[in-house]
Amino acid sequence: MTTVTHGFLDDPVFGIVSDVASSLGVRAYVIGGYVRDCFLGRPNDDIDIVVEGSGIALAGAVAQRTSGKVTVFKNFGTAMLRHKGKELEFVGARKESYHRESRKPVVEDGTLEEDQLRRDFTINAMAFSLQKEDYGALVDPFGGIRDLSEGIIRTPLDPDTTYSDDPLRMLRAIRFATRLSEEGHPFTIVPESLDSMRRNRDRLAILSKERIVEELDKILLTSRPSMGFRLMDETGLLELILPALSRLKGVETVDGKGHKENFSHTLQVVDNVASAEAAQGLEPNLWLRWAALLHDIGKPSSKRFVPGSGWTFHGHEVIGARMVPGIFQQLKMPLNEKMKYVQKLVGLHLRPIALVDEEVTDSAVRRLLFDAGDDIDDLMLLCNADITSKNPAKVSRIRANLELVKRKLVEVEEKDAIRNFKNPITGEYVMELFGIPPGKEIGILKEYVKEAILEGEIGNNFEEADALMRKRAAELGLVPVK
Ligand code: CTP
Repeated sequence: MTTVTHGFLDDPVFGIVSDVASSLGVRAYVIGGYVRDCFLGRPNDDIDIVVEGSGIALAGAVAQRTSGKVTVFKNFGTAMLRHKGKELEFVGARKESYHRESRKPVVEDGTLEEDQLRRDFTINAMAFSLQKEDYGALVDPFGGIRDLSEGIIRTPLDPDTTYSDDPLRMLRAIRFATRLSEEGHPFTIVPESLDSMRRNRDRLAILSKERIVEELDKILLTSRPSMGFRLMDETGLLELILPALSRLKGVETVDGKGHKENFSHTLQVVDNVASAEAAQGLEPNLWLRWAALLHDIGKPSSKRFVPGSGWTFHGHEVIGARMVPGIFQQLKMPLNEKMKYVQKLVGLHLRPIALVDEEVTDSAVRRLLFDAGDDIDDLMLLCNADITSKNPAKVSRIRANLELVKRKLVEVEEKDAIRNFKNPITGEYVMELFGIPPGKEIGILKEYVKEAILEGEIGNNFEEADALMRKRAAELGLVPVK
């Protein structure tokens, strides 16, 4: 008999589950992510309980003791119960076999060991006993603890079986390797697993796009997303999931001149965004990270070699912005304001730098503020992240210039309040003043006023806007009715 005193099951809820299981005469275990995270010292309130018997029956009996409410998922044979901030998911131990065309397994009752064997990784297949006689004992038949301390992602079964059964696990392996490496302790996926992913990559076809994107999002939200995207690339998954990103790879050389390797550059920019957010104490912004990932997506289509001057990617930001909706649609991502935000940042990502190359005039700064609106700070963060040159003199020059743009942005915003620009002249006002119905004159007058404000010819206020609008209206033959 092993008694373990690690304290991982000190929360009284585990004692309750243990008592109830014992009174029902079934064996129950805590399994999966919670056990893994205990050893990693990471808080986790999602607790999976596996029982050699009915998970639903055990959940029901536990709920009676805790006066909780059980939600039963009949199709999956699972039941969920919330208790003091923790979410407990109960499931009967099972062995599974899979059909080739689906992630949905054929499920049969099984033992704990059979259940552990069907799980994705050794580090996710460990269990703590809830039996009275060995409460808290670690049940680790595949060396999960060893793999956790050595930083190894490995499947309990032959990886071809594990990945072919549920191809989402290929992305999960990459996500875990990337996420767990964050803690300063590198994790690697064993070579047999990486080879197996290469062999099984076409199995991704049976996954829903939503599940794939969920994993991409989780990888993007880590502190070094580049690691995950490189692994996806090396295993051939990226080409199937985000072909437009794969196309950024490689360097073409003409007349001895090569261009920037845009794939590495892009990944560096995503990592830079992650580091900048952390340094500034900001919450990770998923959509800013998507914008970083896609910021140069238009480069392959805009690439030209101009004899005498070299490579150009002229207009890649416009092409890139146009590609964003298609990419979101292909991945079944929301085509809402999040997509528009990503599209906007991709389209504007060169503007602050372009300002620096020219003279930083007030009107150029006003136009930038007008176009970026409330997303100006995110755009500036992206722009800074986009500086990946290895030439320190160049880097400090661009950074200093971007600082200048930032100061100007503050100055101009204080003076002219362009960030949430609202035209001081409304359509209703024009119609009432001149007694005219809706028509093109209204658009002409409003545009005229907006341009004058952005150019700095007049201030952003009603008096000056009204005077200018009346002058222009007179030229159009409009006369005030009162
Ligand atoms: N699991 C699996 N195959 C999957 C998904 C999950 O074998 N495709 C098993 C693993 O044992 C995993 C457990 O189910 O630990 C719970 O899965 P999930 O809640 O998705 O992940 P966690 O491991 O808890 O990790 P996280 O919450 O950080 O995603």
